[in-house]
Amino acid sequence: MEVEKIVALAILIALASGGVSGDPDYHDALSKSLLFFQGQRSGKLPPDQSLTWRANSGLADGSAENVDLTGGYYDAGDNVKFGLPMAFTTTMLAWSVLEFGRWMPKELNHAREAVRWGTDYLLKASAPLPSALYVQVGDPNADHDCWERPEDMSTPRSVFKVTPSTPGTEVAAETAAALVAASLVFKHVDVGYSKKLLQTAKKAFAFADRYRGNYSDSLASVVCPFYCSYTGFQDELLWGAAWLYKATRNSSYLSFAHSLGINYNSETFSWDSKIPGAAVLLARESVVDENEAASGFREQAERFVCNVLPKSSSVSVNYTPGGLLYMLNGSNMQYVTSTTFLLSTYAKYLKTSSQTMKCGDVVVTSLRLRKLVKKQVDYILGDNPSRMSYMVGYGDEFPRRIHHRGSSIPSFRLNAEAIGCDEGFQFYYDDKPNPNELTGAVVGGPDENDKFTDDREDYSQSEPTTYINAPLVGTLSYLTASFRPRERCLSVKN
Ligand SMILES: *[C@@H]1O[C@H](CO)[C@@H](O)[C@H](O)[C@H]1NC(C)=O
Ligand SMILES: *[C@@H]1O[C@H](CO)[C@@H](O)[C@H](O)[C@H]1NC(C)=O
Ligand SMILES: *[C@@H]1O[C@H](CO)[C@@H](O)[C@H](O)[C@H]1NC(C)=O
Repeated sequence: MEVEKIVALAILIALASGGVSGDPDYHDALSKSLLFFQGQRSGKLPPDQSLTWRANSGLADGSAENVDLTGGYYDAGDNVKFGLPMAFTTTMLAWSVLEFGRWMPKELNHAREAVRWGTDYLLKASAPLPSALYVQVGDPNADHDCWERPEDMSTPRSVFKVTPSTPGTEVAAETAAALVAASLVFKHVDVGYSKKLLQTAKKAFAFADRYRGNYSDSLASVVCPFYCSYTGFQDELLWGAAWLYKATRNSSYLSFAHSLGINYNSETFSWDSKIPGAAVLLARESVVDENEAASGFREQAERFVCNVLPKSSSVSVNYTPGGLLYMLNGSNMQYVTSTTFLLSTYAKYLKTSSQTMKCGDVVVTSLRLRKLVKKQVDYILGDNPSRMSYMVGYGDEFPRRIHHRGSSIPSFRLNAEAIGCDEGFQFYYDDKPNPNELTGAVVGGPDENDKFTDDREDYSQSEPTTYINAPLVGTLSYLTASFRPRERCLSVKN
């Protein structure tokens, strides 16, 4: 082989294995992070389904109430369609597209598809508004007693709803947020769909506001302890109003947000806790658009940033010795991805408006925030003490025994004979790697000492969830744009 060819080949190999500079391959990780959502699909799969070990499932979902509730996403390693995390996942996928879509040209269609898979279902769930909103399909206690592929489910596909007399403000307001955010994603792509999303969102929000109550009270044992609402519903009302303000510019939503008088003392942004997200979303109005009416939200957003910034005088979160943000033992990675999404977004707002912020006396630039984001994402992708990528299918070392029914049981495509509720546990307790690669799935991650056991039974470490991946889609897109001067050309105004 001629020398040039060898050199060219070496460069290609270096690029394929993560880039010459030692940076992770964010493009590859981005593609994979979206592929994961295909693995979580419920309903009839389309012909272009790329994760081919999955097949149709839940095709009679909704029949218990004579409605069509097929589609949507399984939340994690089980086969229940939980409304609150599904709506939050959809909101975060949509927000990822809105902030960072221009940096994901090759993946933009896949990202929109992932949003739409969520909103098509949420529209079905919203059809009976204003008299009811469907918020869950599947009996979670029965489901969790089994280890079955979604294609084989034999447990009751019970349907749960919230109504004026059994309200669920947080799930209704989060559904509204998802529909509004998605309406912005499709605004110039599918005008009719976008309008329908926004109209339905307004109905969902009015329902949430008018019939106030915690869904954990109304639905008790079918949502708790799985997705019990611990923070109540004020934060979701704020979040829903913030999104409606963004989409409609109707100031009554901003006044509503102010009128909630929320105490912002929280660094937690999750399917349950929306305050930092709402603050950052509304802060844009002040930082980028110089809208004085939103300056209070800017202060709250910056307080959040200072609370998570290592070495800031007001830091109130922990980091592992290896440098990973560590907030909770259960599925910690969800907080890493949600927090880094907000930091990426805030860094973008600062950069777009050529501003900096302060934590105490320390000036914080957008570059500083970006470095923290990069550190966290690089950790996820393998730059960590265990030299382990926490994204399935990315890099050489990644979790092989994830806590996920479909991934751990031989594919329905290879063996369509039903594997029953108890029969499946032979695969759960098996030491062998999962037979089906749930490509792109990011798991709960290591413990507070950077240790990871790759053990299917340790669900707090080995279970993937849709709300770990959804914000990561945006953050990975943000990191695909270079740090170097080239970034300036890409940083056009939003
Ligand atoms: C909803 O739950 C939150 C948190 O547990 C609680 O503080 C609040 O009082 C509840 N609201 C209602 C109306 O039950
Ligand atoms: C703004 O929203 C409020 C509350 O939904 C509504 O009553 C009002 O008509 C809206 N105003 C405009 C100009 O659309
Ligand atoms: C995680 O679990 C360990 C051991 O049970 C405990 O000592 C530690 O405080 C927990 N950390 C967090 C952040 O919850």
